[in-house]
Amino acid sequence: MSTVALHQKYRPQTIAELVGQPYIKTALTNTVKYLQIAPAYLFTGSRGTGKTSTARIFAKSLNCLNTKKPTDQPCGICQSCRSIETSNSLDVSEIDAASNNGVDDARALIERSTLAPVAGRYRIFILDECHCLTGNAFNALLKCIEEPPPHVVFILCTTELHKVLPTIVSRCQVFNFRTLSVQAIVQHLGIVADAESISIDDEALTAIARLSDGGLRDALQLLGQVSLLNEDITANHVMEIAGGVTETELMSILQAISTNNTFNLLQVARVLVDSGKTPKLILSNLLQTYRDLLILKSASKEQSLLTGCVSYTQLKTLANHWNFETLNLSLAELQKAENNLRYTVNAAVWLEVCLLNLMPSLLPVSATKTLAVKPLNDKGRDGKLLPTVATNTPNLAQIWLSVMDTAKPSNKNLLAHASLVKLQGDKAILEVTSAYLKKFESNKEVIAKMLQRATQSQQPMTVLIKTANKSSNGRVKA
Ligand SMILES: Nc1ncnc2c1ncn2[C@@H]1O[C@H](COP(=O)(O)OP(=O)(O)O)[C@@H](O)[C@H]1O
Ligand SMILES: [Mg+2]
Ligand SMILES: [Zn+2]
Repeated sequence: MSTVALHQKYRPQTIAELVGQPYIKTALTNTVKYLQIAPAYLFTGSRGTGKTSTARIFAKSLNCLNTKKPTDQPCGICQSCRSIETSNSLDVSEIDAASNNGVDDARALIERSTLAPVAGRYRIFILDECHCLTGNAFNALLKCIEEPPPHVVFILCTTELHKVLPTIVSRCQVFNFRTLSVQAIVQHLGIVADAESISIDDEALTAIARLSDGGLRDALQLLGQVSLLNEDITANHVMEIAGGVTETELMSILQAISTNNTFNLLQVARVLVDSGKTPKLILSNLLQTYRDLLILKSASKEQSLLTGCVSYTQLKTLANHWNFETLNLSLAELQKAENNLRYTVNAAVWLEVCLLNLMPSLLPVSATKTLAVKPLNDKGRDGKLLPTVATNTPNLAQIWLSVMDTAKPSNKNLLAHASLVKLQGDKAILEVTSAYLKKFESNKEVIAKMLQRATQSQQPMTVLIKTANKSSNGRVKA
């Protein structure tokens, strides 16, 4: 593989090679064809959508020496075309306004604009990131942009149009570069991957495209990064390299939520946090996944609208667990948690609270009426206790969380290995994995006190510790 970064190696050299931007392609082609060349252009749009590339292509079109007049098909091999590609042209100045933003820089530029072009037809100034120019510099440029010498063309590029003085904007022909669709990015990445013999599947390409927010530079950079793995690249590789939460991880969270499996849910969350993923990142990934689930519910055929990293096929297998209403409630819950996370030092605990609140049985309107939780002391008609709902009783999970919340950080991890499965009067039953049985046994009294505090109970508590047996479906049996 070459050492040149993919996004540099695959910079479009002609209008035809530009991905997306159909209107800009047509407009610029016609501009050159009919010689309707304006004194100033403003290319705006988010990063990596082709502004700088297009500015260079346009400069080549104007100055190509292989034709008598500007051409919509610059040759790419004449001295002018080549010098523009390597940023060495005497007639085309590419100025990074981010580092040359002062009024002196603007004056120097104005002075240079009065000189006739050396080799080409036009003297072209590409002002990249032009929103970085100071107000004074902009003002110095104004006059020049309004009435430049006939041989001068300005191309201003910016990601932040609102920071450009309105008086400047109104003097330019404005081209709005759109963010690229996931499909367009996937298609382009596929071509690059083939050319570079990178073995990567479609879902991985889609994952890259979704992560890059409509910009091709980021997409190509990420492709370059994952290509170093030297194996068949999957979506999980992509998420791992991008530092995101992988599809597998998100699926285990969703599975635990949909089956009301408190134990698994907390465990997955803990593993994720321990592996260095921040609660904020986990929540924002979940938010995207829930948004996708909502879309799947309302427009089940519109795969292209999905933006999260869980694939359509995977989402489909889970979608039946939620109805529209519960998804909406879940999204509200996630939003609430995002706010909570902003001000807390206990981010991991809030993540857990949020995850538990996402369980269908806990949402205010239960989608799955059959799972509705019965009050603990509810007696049947024959006076016998009704069976308590196993590990998923909402108040139990919440009580346990509030116990964890009061614990010292070092004990929090230990407590997360247990779940409170029953609480009746002054008796509590905790379930723990067998590896932790002893540890919990020896701390029974302390835990009992914590429970008493958390439930604000008057009488002392007794705690019974049981091992949790995992049944074949992964759920903890009471
Ligand atoms: N519309 C596009 N078509 C093809 N490649 C693109 C496009 N937009 C960005 N790229 C890729 O991203 C790199 C950076 O693009 P650039 O034109 O500098 O983006 P911008 O100036 O809008 O941030 C290019 O070298 C190219 O590899
Ligand atoms: Mg740029
Ligand atoms: Zn040429």
